[in-house]
Amino acid sequence: QGVKHLADVPGVVVKGDGAVEDGRQPIRAAVARAAELARDAEERAVSRQHAKGKRTARERLDLLFDAGSFIEIGRFAGGDINGGKAGAAVITGFGEVYGRKVAVYAQDFSVNGGSLGRAEGEKVCRLMDRALDLKIPIVALIDSGGARIQEGVAALTEYGHIFRKTCEASGFVPQLSLILGPCAGGAVYCPALTDLIIMTRENSNMFVTGPDVVKAATGETISMEDLGGGTVHNTVSGVAHYLGEDEADAIDYARTVLAYLPSNSDENPPAFAYAATRADRETAKRLATIVPDNDRQPYDVLDVIRCILDYGEFVQVQELFARSAVVGFGCVEGHPVGVVANQPNVNAGILDVDSSEKVARFVRLCDAFNLPVITLVDTPGYKPGSDQEHAGIIRRGAKVIYAYANAQVPLVTVVLRKAFGGAYIVMGSKAIGADMNFAWPSSQIAVLGATGAVNIIHRKDLQKEKEAGRDVDALRRRLADDYERTTVNANLSLETGQIDAMIDPEQTRQAIAESLAMLASKRRVRRTTKHHGNQPL
Ligand code: HXC
Repeated sequence: QGVKHLADVPGVVVKGDGAVEDGRQPIRAAVARAAELARDAEERAVSRQHAKGKRTARERLDLLFDAGSFIEIGRFAGGDINGGKAGAAVITGFGEVYGRKVAVYAQDFSVNGGSLGRAEGEKVCRLMDRALDLKIPIVALIDSGGARIQEGVAALTEYGHIFRKTCEASGFVPQLSLILGPCAGGAVYCPALTDLIIMTRENSNMFVTGPDVVKAATGETISMEDLGGGTVHNTVSGVAHYLGEDEADAIDYARTVLAYLPSNSDENPPAFAYAATRADRETAKRLATIVPDNDRQPYDVLDVIRCILDYGEFVQVQELFARSAVVGFGCVEGHPVGVVANQPNVNAGILDVDSSEKVARFVRLCDAFNLPVITLVDTPGYKPGSDQEHAGIIRRGAKVIYAYANAQVPLVTVVLRKAFGGAYIVMGSKAIGADMNFAWPSSQIAVLGATGAVNIIHRKDLQKEKEAGRDVDALRRRLADDYERTTVNANLSLETGQIDAMIDPEQTRQAIAESLAMLASKRRVRRTTKHHGNQPL
């Protein structure tokens, strides 16, 4: 229908001075009243939020979107203009992030504590429906006391609707959640179902039951921060993916992540301008000097990653959690990629229950949104110990395999140093589906490390040596050296085609770039008609 000019509405006369004469109702007064309500509401929001050290929902939208790009929908939905109520406790609309359209819902704590009732639920679901129609990402700015208590189960129902929509959108459009205030009770599952959760150091809380309930139920006394603050969820629980210094930092991270992702799963990620420079050759050379010859010596895999990615720019995800693995976004010759790497600086880069889940979830994210995955391997394997076995390393470690084996994006893997046992196979090996696999000359690929292997396969020889009263440690060392020389290398993998080439570290970036260019036309295939696999969870 298009927008009707007031002057075109039958019965309305717009006079020369702009005044409106309407036979049925005082339109101008209504418009003015609505504008006044909106202004008062924001003034109220400023005074309430600033007193708590928080921005208002609208101030946050200003930070999230390119200047002047926000278009609000349903401004007064759920309000009562005559009764003086400006609208619901959530703002919905669309804006642009680096020139691309994004849908947003921002909870407004200054209205009923940002709580969610029927009007809010309907607004959020309508927004999500539009985002799915438009195939654009959805960002949630969360700041809410949860289900509106006065509305009872009607409020809970709305959460059910949002959960269902979030699941529908999952893997189709990127969904980011920023926790900029409280997020309590079952409401936490709104962000939990999205791709990334971004929290702030202060004023950011998530818990299923708050400190009072915890105290009543278990007798434990704990603060909001220690129970579910930004630091705890970024370092201990792994619920969150980024810890913002403040709201501006958190929102900036969301904008950055969106820049690496396509608007939906049908599109490729955006490409960026990249011009090779002379400095690239110097950077490539540095790769040869990072990994120490001594395989017991740690190093920072971030140095390797930065030498491989354009301009050394790497945006980590879950930087503070399960730090024996590193995951994040970067670009190779202008094209976004996901990087997965073991971190020898932390527990020798071991795979434990947490780092397994960190890797698996990130690979799934990349695969959903068409980002090739570059895997850099240097790990002694899965972590031994009853704590890991009892924490479910079988079930949780299996997620890494499931993620790689089902990934249909280009997968390029480089073995930097250690790739022992199951970890060699699960970290993007050719056997589970990688497209191109490379090894550095320092690669140590084997079923077990030398000493562990010798202890098993030469148990009888070692026993005999001991019984004969000879130096058993000397024999073990000799056998281990022998095993290391003959077996712990990339030869067998090269001979069986599991590794495509041994490359000089200096060639790594080039090998990856060429592989990605070759694999650019890799297409998704649907081989069966099954509904979905039964992923280990
Ligand atoms: C209605 C709420 C509300 C809620 C806050 N308010 N939460 N109104 N329903 N859930 C109102 C307050 O009455 C107050 O109104 C205003 O919002 C600001 O709240 P304050 O308590 O003054 O703010 P603050 O001191 O910052 O404390 C924030 C808070 C606290 C920690 C979030 O408000 C709180 O504990 N709220 C209840 C949390 C809760 O139990 N929610 C239900 C969770 S269960 P006035 O008019 O005084 O300004 C849930 C289930 C979801 O969400 C299920 C999904 C399956």
